Amino acid sequence: MATNVNAEALKEAPIPESIEKQAASKQTVDPYNVQGEVGEDGVVKAIDYNKLIEEFGTKKIDQALLDRLERVTGKKPHRFLRRGIVFSHRDLELILDRYEKGEPFFLYTGRGPSSDSVHVGHTIPFEFTKWLQDTFDVPLVIMMTDDEKYLFSDKRTIEEVEGYCSNNAKDIIAVGFDPNKTFIFSDFQFMGGAFYKNVVRLSKHITLNQARAIFGFNDSTNIGRIHFGSIQGASSWASSFPHIFGEDESKTVAIPCLIPCAIDQDPYFRMTRDVSARLKYRNTNISYAKPALIHSRFLDALQGPGTKMSASIDESAIFMRDTPNQIKNKINKYAYSGGKVTVEEHREKGGDTSVDVAFQYLRFFLEDDEELEKIRVAYESGEMLTGELKAICIKELQTYVAAFQERRAKVDDEAVKLFMATRPLKWNGNPRAPIVVPQVQNADGEAAAEGGDGKLTKNQLKKLEKQKQIEAKKAQKAKEKEEKDKAAAAQE
Ligand code: TRP
Repeated sequence: MATNVNAEALKEAPIPESIEKQAASKQTVDPYNVQGEVGEDGVVKAIDYNKLIEEFGTKKIDQALLDRLERVTGKKPHRFLRRGIVFSHRDLELILDRYEKGEPFFLYTGRGPSSDSVHVGHTIPFEFTKWLQDTFDVPLVIMMTDDEKYLFSDKRTIEEVEGYCSNNAKDIIAVGFDPNKTFIFSDFQFMGGAFYKNVVRLSKHITLNQARAIFGFNDSTNIGRIHFGSIQGASSWASSFPHIFGEDESKTVAIPCLIPCAIDQDPYFRMTRDVSARLKYRNTNISYAKPALIHSRFLDALQGPGTKMSASIDESAIFMRDTPNQIKNKINKYAYSGGKVTVEEHREKGGDTSVDVAFQYLRFFLEDDEELEKIRVAYESGEMLTGELKAICIKELQTYVAAFQERRAKVDDEAVKLFMATRPLKWNGNPRAPIVVPQVQNADGEAAAEGGDGKLTKNQLKKLEKQKQIEAKKAQKAKEKEEKDKAAAAQE
């Protein structure tokens, strides 16, 4: 029997409960429940991601697809792709086809602003989204589901989720998104106009029966929750964003998006894809583009496989606000180890990297493939001890978190205003493709950028441009220095 635990209840549950022995049950993964299989012995197992591919009917990202991605973009696939952390997709091939031809598409992702404490697990889909934006040079829309977080919690007030929104937006901006190409919006604020029309369009094509089957709702579910899927889904359509893609729906309905998300969000978009296929623009033959997806797995809690980081349990996660010392203490004290009990036994038999949290975190955060492989071999052979492995993991996480904190400190309210302004975006798409990406133009033939109404002023744009130039210069200098250092090292 599938468990029927509310996602919030699960997230807020104290650790002892979530890893406490439970009645045997199958694994459940949907937007509101993420729970590994519970065995006869009452122990929660790690989530079986291959099984999800089968159940959801998605496709595994295989080497052939990675090779094609590399050929088409000229960029080595992100370490999450190389290591199966981003492991599954729907129609990624079609997006690559479009990229090759220079046909437009965009990226769409989101976050439920549920608390002020962001942990490393939260940053994973965003890190990956940034890589996609840098790689494809396309617009990105980020939905802040303040409405969802209100509807799916028994105790939160609207004011509370509104409060989280701006801080969460700052955390997202700190990942490093390009303000020229990124629109962050709150459902509460952006609802209306073209977006709301699409919300209603989508909701009209979903029956209560379907919503029940997809999300497991029942007769006592509040109707806001039942309707919410049409809001999350409607942002998959470019025509929801006329300020980015233009007013001509006969063109914009055909522009697809690629959605990087954790696998639990797939049900929303399975539903949206289904409706897209049935919808036509007015009385024409022009179909609504189906959203494409690229799915990531979850980062285990410090307690090991079968557990999930929780924003409300300090010992379960490394938080982006943690000090270097806190990171060190948490890893040393709580990180589940795949090492053996005594040094002698460990030296003889070696450690189990498949369950070792420090090693698993290194798979997520250590960039260098060769180094990771060396660590794996050393730990599994018993040559490397748990303490040594943890020390490497601590250093890597300290660097990752410190870099984030440095960027986060620079994000102010002005930046949030900028990213959340309803304004045109600028992007270039594939530099090697035959078609030039159309941008929203005003009467002067410039990318529209008037002041007022939350739009970017010419001055703001100038400032952005200047910032970009400074950054480009910096990057150039860093590159030159790196090359010089390399040359010097080669001579030694
Ligand atoms: N429902 C997501 C959450 O609770 C937020 C979200 C909205 C999202 N749209 C999305 C996540 C698109 C990924 C992709 O976090």
